[in-house]
Amino acid sequence: MAEILGLGMTHSPPLMSAQGDTAARLRRMMSDPLLPPHYRDPQHWPEPMRREWGNDEGGAHVQRHRAELIDAMRWARKELDAFRPDLVIVFGDDQYENFREDGVPAFQINCFDAFTAKPWATKPPGYHNAWDEAPDTEFRYNANKRAAKELAARLIGEGFEVAYAYEPRHDEMPHAILNTLVFLDWDRRGFDYPVVPFLTNCYGRQLIPLKGGGVNDLAKIPSGDDLDPPGPAAWRCFDLGRALARILEASRWRTALISSASWSHSFLTGKTSYFHPDVETDRRYFAALQAGDYALWRNTSLADIEAHGHQEMLNWIFVLGAMAELGNRKPQEAFFVESWLTNATKAFAVFRP
Ligand SMILES: [Fe+2]
Repeated sequence: MAEILGLGMTHSPPLMSAQGDTAARLRRMMSDPLLPPHYRDPQHWPEPMRREWGNDEGGAHVQRHRAELIDAMRWARKELDAFRPDLVIVFGDDQYENFREDGVPAFQINCFDAFTAKPWATKPPGYHNAWDEAPDTEFRYNANKRAAKELAARLIGEGFEVAYAYEPRHDEMPHAILNTLVFLDWDRRGFDYPVVPFLTNCYGRQLIPLKGGGVNDLAKIPSGDDLDPPGPAAWRCFDLGRALARILEASRWRTALISSASWSHSFLTGKTSYFHPDVETDRRYFAALQAGDYALWRNTSLADIEAHGHQEMLNWIFVLGAMAELGNRKPQEAFFVESWLTNATKAFAVFRP
């Protein structure tokens, strides 16, 4: 029986930059004419959010938040190295990168031989990456086409009709995959583990209307006929994770399963008028995760996801399904990196075999 590691982390795009998430979006949203009046004045914000705002408009919070995330990336890499995987499956969302008007699968496994990306080449002038690397820096990662194909075939055999691709339609490395790998090599020692990207249409009904982004103007919330069909249901992702654990346990690969996503995203959270993330609901999900109470996760409805800005949580549900299958394994370590002012709270967890 092959061993399986579960790991949860974030691919938060602002962490790629030298300054991190500066809460600029929140400040911008405060002057949106359609923002409910109680959000305009920090005095009326939830208590923990006011504390983060402090008397420096969140300046100290955003710096501390960035430092905590960098520490967590080093911690995640240590866990991965201690496990020594033959294969790393990264669960990430495709945000209008390959899933576009020309085709939107629910799930897609990329069966490539290798991946490359030049993330700094397309950044606007004035952008500084966190490592001060040259604009033409190329990242190259190993993959495992044979393993990826075999996993797709086995999942289809179990009734989970995943799409598969041998080449990118548009973007070779969607940000959820690329950022995860770039962050896991924070200290630039190299990352040689073969990677299998597992992409999901997390953004569902808002994928095409928001072009993979979020609501940043309250006059432009998509509705009615503008909406797409939904992404896959939480229970389906959970059950796919269960099936994948059975397949991998019987395989020849020692596999690390990585959930890559921040939790409630402010720009997707209907319940807070897209102003701040739903941190209280995140806390409930975190408590359930720590307790190994995965039913809360599996039973999440589409209405829950859209109210709480939990679209990207689907990336975590696959791994929790796998952990449920492996004797309801609970995380040995988990931490909640809370933030009301940046776009999302983040969480990290490890489920060692
Ligand atoms: Fe994402």
